Amino acid sequence: MLKVSEVDLFYGAAQALRKVSVTAAPGKITCVLGRNGVGKTSLLKAIVGHHPVRSGSVALDGRVLDRMASYDRARAGIAYVPQGREIFPLLTVKENLETAFAAAPKGERDVPGEVFELFPVLKSMLARRGGDLSGGQQQQLAIARALVSRPKALVLDEPTEGIQPSIIKDIGRAITYLKESAGLAILLVEQYLDFARELADEVHVMDRGEIVFSGPAASLDEDAIQRHLTV
Ligand SMILES: Nc1ncnc2c1ncn2[C@@H]1O[C@H](COP(=O)(O)OP(=O)(O)OP(=O)(O)O)[C@@H](O)[C@H]1O
Ligand SMILES: [Mg+2]
Repeated sequence: MLKVSEVDLFYGAAQALRKVSVTAAPGKITCVLGRNGVGKTSLLKAIVGHHPVRSGSVALDGRVLDRMASYDRARAGIAYVPQGREIFPLLTVKENLETAFAAAPKGERDVPGEVFELFPVLKSMLARRGGDLSGGQQQQLAIARALVSRPKALVLDEPTEGIQPSIIKDIGRAITYLKESAGLAILLVEQYLDFARELADEVHVMDRGEIVFSGPAASLDEDAIQRHLTV
């Protein structure tokens, strides 16, 4: 279980997160929804240790991560697929995957075979440079790279952003597989509402740095959508 408790996060004097609490259970997909600039990425940065929190706590399976640097959080079992993918354009696909070895458990420094079952296109492109892949292929590579560390929790920041519909479907299937077969705790930030509602078990909606709705995906009603998600 990934547990975020009452996190406050600031950029200088500007507060981006206000007492944000979110949980993501193993074998479930938890979606964080919200308009542009409400703090979704800031929440993920707080989880993976890319930005310090002012107060509050992040824990994985009861282990408090607050004092750990991001590489230690990765080793503890949190994998991050950042917004904009952030693959290395000049490294090959194979090398991009290998950058995650440092966070993998000792003795498991290989690329799990299931990665290529999930994203067969990557297997045929191992020697290609990351920068030569299409946006959708880069997104698949970013997810594949996250899986190389054998995480317990996978956090993804808008994986459908700027991706063509056929690849969005592949990504949806992959995320569902990871939830069901690998039992990962999946925390998915999304603005693409239909995709989120199709996949989500639990939903949190953010508005201006705060959680304004939390509940099972089925309980996200039109009123909440109108109030917090339409522009
Ligand atoms: N490095 C930073 N320095 C200062 N302010 C920042 C920084 N990063 C984000 N912000 C501000 O914090 C707020 C939340 O930003 P954040 O990126 O978390 O939002 P988001 O919900 O992920 O937005 P988007 O949907 O556009 O990705 C915004 O007002 C943003 O301008
Ligand atoms: Mg963002």
